[in-house]
Amino acid sequence: MAKNPLKITDTILRDAHQSQAATRMKLEDMLPALSLLDDMGYWSLECWGGATFDVCMRYLNEDPWERLRTLKKAMPKTPLQMLLRGQNLLGYRHYADDIVEEFVEKSIENGISVIRIFDALNDPRNIETAMKACKKYGGHAEACFSYTTSPVHNEEYFINLAKTLESMGADTICIKDMANLLLPYDAYSLIKKLKEAVNVPIHLHTHNTTGTGDMVNLMAAQAGVDIVDCALSPLANGTSQPTTESLVATLQGTSRDTGMDLNKLSEAAAHFRGVAEKLEINPKVLRVDTNTLLYQVPGGMLSNLVSQLKQAGKEDKYYEALAEIPRVREDFGYPPLVTPTSQIVGTQAVMNVIMGERYKMVPKESKGLLKGEYGQLPGTVNEEVRKKCIGDDTVITCRPADLLEPELDKIRAEAGDKCKCEEDVLSYALFPQVYTKFIEEKNKPAAPAAAPVAAPAANDNSPRTLIVDDLTNANF
Ligand code: CO
Repeated sequence: MAKNPLKITDTILRDAHQSQAATRMKLEDMLPALSLLDDMGYWSLECWGGATFDVCMRYLNEDPWERLRTLKKAMPKTPLQMLLRGQNLLGYRHYADDIVEEFVEKSIENGISVIRIFDALNDPRNIETAMKACKKYGGHAEACFSYTTSPVHNEEYFINLAKTLESMGADTICIKDMANLLLPYDAYSLIKKLKEAVNVPIHLHTHNTTGTGDMVNLMAAQAGVDIVDCALSPLANGTSQPTTESLVATLQGTSRDTGMDLNKLSEAAAHFRGVAEKLEINPKVLRVDTNTLLYQVPGGMLSNLVSQLKQAGKEDKYYEALAEIPRVREDFGYPPLVTPTSQIVGTQAVMNVIMGERYKMVPKESKGLLKGEYGQLPGTVNEEVRKKCIGDDTVITCRPADLLEPELDKIRAEAGDKCKCEEDVLSYALFPQVYTKFIEEKNKPAAPAAAPVAAPAANDNSPRTLIVDDLTNANF
């Protein structure tokens, strides 16, 4: 056994298929491999949260809570991990503290051990309630920072942020590099410094979108990172995580040897190869996209840009819009470009170009961001732009959720007999329309000899762009 084995979190049951196959892996496709996965010796298995919750009900006709209980039953030994968007939970707005607290409590009660909590703006106040609840109910609180580059996002900024997260009670700290922007030598330097600055373990999450993922993980291992995210080969690489087996093989016999068994990994991979085939993965997701490194704009944003311009009949403005993105980002105080800020900044840039005048048309999401409704922006906001966008409206500086009254009782009453238990109430609280439709389908008496409902295509591209209330295809 190596002195300092690198620990692995596998994302095959969450981010891997969310990134490559629009989160369409079904529970029945997971079941045959679960006992194998449970024997692997992973630090954790990411298997819930992110877009899985919404997609379960919206497209797969599955109760996400039922899925979680089944996963835990089949994998009693391995800590199950979920991804949670701070005060947004798994939905698309800020929820009141009572909902956040109960959601975290129920997630842990139904089988989650590790909750990875992040906020798009890296405003610690947006993850505070979820972190406290996680600790209160016995979970492992993994606090994240969303990695990005900008004049304010330097090593010092991230080290200070990590110290804040540690003082808030983080059990581990995760570098969340959702766009694969973190370069290998920068990863080495950042992790070295983080290891000196904080005492809690450091967990690295990257993707392979720009083709550097394996190098990033290797340099991180060299720098002493404690845990990294990988995905089993059938759903690894491209927009997903780097491959588990490759890293395990690379580190064999070194001081960071994971101790994991390549034969067992290969056996699990054989199962997921069949699943990947069923999911009909679009080869596009495996392409290396180096434009992200050039423009510092995540790959998903570039395809959104193209489709928004197309809809407006202004495809010729592509390079103008591309150049406008960093300017809007600067005006808005350098938010990291991750959901939902990537959509907000991207859409504003497109409007500025299409209208021929900057900030002539301002969507309500841009206004909300400038009014502080999403939390504190990392850098200095361009006050002239803010004035033009929101006029004399007040800018809030408090924690956004402080303005929200408790809402659980109201929602429980509104849902009425649609909900049989508190878990149902939470599903309804997050996705009222989707849950209502899901439960109506479920309660329908089975039609005799009904034709099977065609499953949506795994790579249905239709909801991939421009949709603010359906982020099931967003990349986290
Ligand atoms: Co991710």
